[in-house]
Amino acid sequence: MAAALSPQFFTFRINADKRGCLLAIEGAADIPFAIARVYFLFEAPPAARRGGHAHRNLRQAAVCLRGGCDMLLDNGEDKTAVRLDSPSRGLLIDKMIWRELFNFSPDCLLAVFADAPYDEGDYIRDYGDFLAVTGQQPY
Ligand code: TYD
Repeated sequence: MAAALSPQFFTFRINADKRGCLLAIEGAADIPFAIARVYFLFEAPPAARRGGHAHRNLRQAAVCLRGGCDMLLDNGEDKTAVRLDSPSRGLLIDKMIWRELFNFSPDCLLAVFADAPYDEGDYIRDYGDFLAVTGQQPY
């Protein structure tokens, strides 16, 4: 029986008035972990594919502040793709989820919040290794 993958989204409140918009994201409140690191993806060519890895322990949340991109989430048994194209909608990227990012709009600006500093040792960059760690056979 496959473990179904249900993407977990967050709804962020945009403070909008005639002066523009303000988005605040508080760790352990708007997303379910304290924020140790923030990084941004931008100027990705539309044909680019990013990600292509999983993390053993890292939890992240992503929100597209401008434009849009698609994100494939894969737990080793089930996979689903979601479009991120709204600053009011965040997506949890949990530990041990293989992710791939693609279909970037030219103006895409993606913000990613992480619960730990950068650690190359936490990455699983080989899909076969990912399946082995999740206990799955290759598709
Ligand atoms: P990588 O995680 O491979 O990017 P993506 O998954 O989007 O394709 O990271 C690309 C490069 O940036 C790599 O050399 C590591 C570096 N990097 C940092 O230095 N700090 C960070 O927080 C991240 C996410 C990446």
